[in-house]
Amino acid sequence: MADRDGIQEGKNFYLDQKSDNKSFHVKGMEHCDWGMKHRLSRIFNPESGRTVMLAFDHGYIMGATSGLERLDIAVPPLAEHADVLMATRGALRSCISPTFDKAVALRVSGGSTVLQDDMSLEYFMVNMQESLRMDAACIAIQTYIGSKNEAQTLRNLNEAVNQGNQYGIPVLGVVGVGKEMERTSKFFLTAVRTVAEMGAHIVKTYYCDDFEKIVAACPVPIVVAGGKKIPEKDALELAYNAISKGAAGVDMGRNVFQAEDPVAMIQAIRKVVHEGKTGEEAYKFYMETKKS
Ligand code: 5RP
Repeated sequence: MADRDGIQEGKNFYLDQKSDNKSFHVKGMEHCDWGMKHRLSRIFNPESGRTVMLAFDHGYIMGATSGLERLDIAVPPLAEHADVLMATRGALRSCISPTFDKAVALRVSGGSTVLQDDMSLEYFMVNMQESLRMDAACIAIQTYIGSKNEAQTLRNLNEAVNQGNQYGIPVLGVVGVGKEMERTSKFFLTAVRTVAEMGAHIVKTYYCDDFEKIVAACPVPIVVAGGKKIPEKDALELAYNAISKGAAGVDMGRNVFQAEDPVAMIQAIRKVVHEGKTGEEAYKFYMETKKS
């Protein structure tokens, strides 16, 4: 049985040894079934092995947040530059044409909004029939490890994985951070690994110190969240650092749709993720491309 005291922290992450995917381009997914792999291949480009997800699921917690006041105006111009659209069913149905062929990461957990002091209580809300009806390439479940609702959110995750495995739908486990929760690499190492071991096929987390260790210790691909809006140059550096330290993609929201020029920003992010550009090169592209 694991003890709380005397835990020996992980030391050897074999950072000099890349994890070796022999027969499939998505880390840790070699032994999955065809349908699961087919969906994962819509998320992670088979050429680059990476993905650019556009997150615009903020309304389920924040309401009409800045940049997303009008989904029908804000999202369509960005969507064509994303590999995956991460959203709630309500947002997708209202602002994306079903003729538009992009992978969907469907937000299926919810239960708290910014009107609560503590937003960590979530449930697995959207059933699998609805996710199939929405043609989800994966379903996204929030976890709050370290919060008082940790067990509830891990139960949600496990239930989603049980059902996802039954239907061949990958689960994107999101590592949430509450206002009083730590954001140290020690926290992310624990949270990311827990989410992966519960069976999530993809983990979404934040960038942090020692990120390469977190990637090494995570047996499945990591996509990095952008978090609160920061200057465009810094957001592109963050994306570059995450990718160069082993992230399989980014899943950014506010740093795209709150940018001065959101379309130029998502195009610049693609340069980092799929074309191997540095943060500096991508920022130069952004400045040259953005409308003044
Ligand atoms: C919440 C989420 C959101 O999709 C994500 O945080 C939004 O992206 P960003 O932080 O880049 O605005 O998963 O936990």
